[in-house]
Amino acid sequence: MTIRLGGIIIGLVITGILVLWSLIPGIINYAPPERPDYYAFQEKNIKPAGGFSFDGPLGKWDVAQLQRGYQVYKQVCSSCHSLKYVAFRNLQELGYTEAEVRAEAAEWRVPGLDPVTGESILRPAELTDQFPSPYPNDIAARTANNNALPPDLSLITKARKDGTNYVYSLMLGYNEPDPADLEKSPNFETPLGLYFNDYFYNINIAMPPQLQDGLIDYADGTEATKEQLSADVAAFLTWTAEPSLVKRKQTGWFVIGFLLFATVLAFLSYKTVWAGLKPKK
Ligand code: HEC
Repeated sequence: MTIRLGGIIIGLVITGILVLWSLIPGIINYAPPERPDYYAFQEKNIKPAGGFSFDGPLGKWDVAQLQRGYQVYKQVCSSCHSLKYVAFRNLQELGYTEAEVRAEAAEWRVPGLDPVTGESILRPAELTDQFPSPYPNDIAARTANNNALPPDLSLITKARKDGTNYVYSLMLGYNEPDPADLEKSPNFETPLGLYFNDYFYNINIAMPPQLQDGLIDYADGTEATKEQLSADVAAFLTWTAEPSLVKRKQTGWFVIGFLLFATVLAFLSYKTVWAGLKPKK
């Protein structure tokens, strides 16, 4: 018995020594992995002062803001980005009448066919058309944008983390690199044709800065600071991605109310059903 135990212990010790021995070359040659030079991007988005009207469980659309955001999209973003999941008729949800939306749509041009010759033409948009891409295809879009593709913006606030604030931050994120960060990543640079924006995951973005103070004359007279323009277009793109956002929150409250009411009813009927029975002593 003792001999067997001794044998096992010696075996374990020898195995241990062999294992350690095999590790020695690894330990001697160990070099910590080299950290690549990179410039860290801002993972935390900035928000407009006071947040957005649709934040939180009681949030509501600020229809005037959505209209301003549409104006920013139309006058600035639509020269590169489509909104292919939004139809002109959807604009009625922003408080415009059908006649107004028809007139608005007629100002846009969408691809169509000449009814006589059958040739491809651009025709005025109708209520049922979607917001078109300004480019005939992706190759043309890339050619015009330093080989980068301006994505469709219909769902962009859903496609990015914290999307509404992300769009707001991206619009305002064209700054200078932080000298302290540059010291940590000396090889960092912004190639020609790209723009430094550390809210973009690649840091250098192919989209030139878009918004500056006073760029737009707002129809409702609001002062168009670049923060205001950015917040408005971010709100508009939140609506395009989820037009039912506010309705969804309201439905939630209704459902909670209904469940509470059903709980009270269930409790009262339980009382009634068992009222005749006394517990056994
Ligand atoms: C001159 C063309 C142009 C205009 C105008 C433009 N963009 Fe862009 N945008 C681009 C290009 C190109 C990209 C792709 C960038 C890349 O991949 O580096 C892009 C990308 C984006 C992205 C996606 C970033 C990501 O995380 O992938 C958002 C959001 C965006 N643009 C919003 C806007 C908004 C809002 C406006 C209007 C205020 C606007 N853009 C106007 C060219 C444009």
